[in-house]
Amino acid sequence: MKEYLLDELAIRIHKLSEEIWGKDRAIMLIGKHPKLLETQRRLIRYAQCENPILITGESGVGKELFAKSIYLFSQRKGSPFISVNCAQYQEPNMLISELFGHKKGSFTGAHENRNGIFMEYNDGVIFLDEIGELSLKAQGMLLRVLSEGEIKPLGGNRVTYVNTQIIAATNRNLKEMITSGEFREDLYYRLCQLRLDIPALRERGDDWHILLNYYLDELNRQQGTNKQFSSQALAYLQNYHWPGNIRELKSIINTGFFSSESQYVIKPCDFISELQTDHQTNITDDDVTKYFVEMQENGVCFWETVQKPYLDRELNRNQVRLIIQQGLQDSGGSYKRLLKIFNIPEFQYLKFMDFLRHHRLKPQNVII
Ligand SMILES: Nc1ncnc2c1ncn2[C@@H]1O[C@H](COP(=O)(O)OP(=O)(O)OP(=O)(O)O)[C@@H](O)[C@H]1O
Ligand SMILES: [Mg+2]
Repeated sequence: MKEYLLDELAIRIHKLSEEIWGKDRAIMLIGKHPKLLETQRRLIRYAQCENPILITGESGVGKELFAKSIYLFSQRKGSPFISVNCAQYQEPNMLISELFGHKKGSFTGAHENRNGIFMEYNDGVIFLDEIGELSLKAQGMLLRVLSEGEIKPLGGNRVTYVNTQIIAATNRNLKEMITSGEFREDLYYRLCQLRLDIPALRERGDDWHILLNYYLDELNRQQGTNKQFSSQALAYLQNYHWPGNIRELKSIINTGFFSSESQYVIKPCDFISELQTDHQTNITDDDVTKYFVEMQENGVCFWETVQKPYLDRELNRNQVRLIIQQGLQDSGGSYKRLLKIFNIPEFQYLKFMDFLRHHRLKPQNVII
């Protein structure tokens, strides 16, 4: 069967599943590559048990979508599902309070008692996104939940028992974090009794094309248009390596769609600025060394040496990623040790991580 017929068929199967299962249950999972199908089969098997599940994969591969799908296929469908992004809390106690609750006066700003999410969503499913960002104290408390079902609010002594299922996700290498003392080994083994590795988009053959057709059709339907990517644009994307995975693909489709002035055709120039390899990486090893010398030998901090030229557009995203990648190799994969190398004071850890996250600067696949 011709390739484009297969793509059509995949989209129709997805739509059919929407009709059979309802829109919610068919939120997933466009694509037909064997690696994706195998992950889907595993998802359905995992959804039958109550154990914690760890979802791993690069940024934008669909970890949250998979978590929701597990929930929708599970016995707990109908009880609450809540997603908590562990990276969004500036202060470790705030996340602990959000999850486990607190007693009045347990920290500055705790004006009254509060129940945490575990209490509020007892019997539901909690999706802990970016689990690698949990403080060691929060990791200890989470371990109690996983091993005994126990929670104790911050500043309190009374233990309460909960029956919450935990699905966690990360794009960080937790094993490396164990080695550097940032992640508890016992928690890791509790969490990854069931582990789901989501393949990167570049490992899924032509699935990018099926996803592109699907999301483009949606836009055309919403806008009453009939825009298509030109063959040159498709050839361009065919060779692209999708560092930001499906989230990046969606943003390319959106940018291309709304930037194109033509009624019918989306050309490379309509989305090229959105590609993460938008500029050629012409930084050499010597250049990378220059930035390190500036930070390590001349004592100038990362903000001055790297962030400033980046914000002034003298360095592009790939170049900064390369510098960070090199730093991570020197730090054995630890972001905490990287601070020292980049001459950043320890208390600015969260500021640094936020900067990387916000500008999508975390390198993928760091090989230490
Ligand atoms: N197989 C798929 N079919 C359709 N849409 C998908 C698929 N996988 C992911 N998406 C879409 O891609 C976007 C990114 O997915 P999601 O937020 O689940 O990724 P993530 O792995 O959690 O990302 P991050 O690591 O950045 O948190 C979402 O809009 C999601 O709906
Ligand atoms: Mg996510």
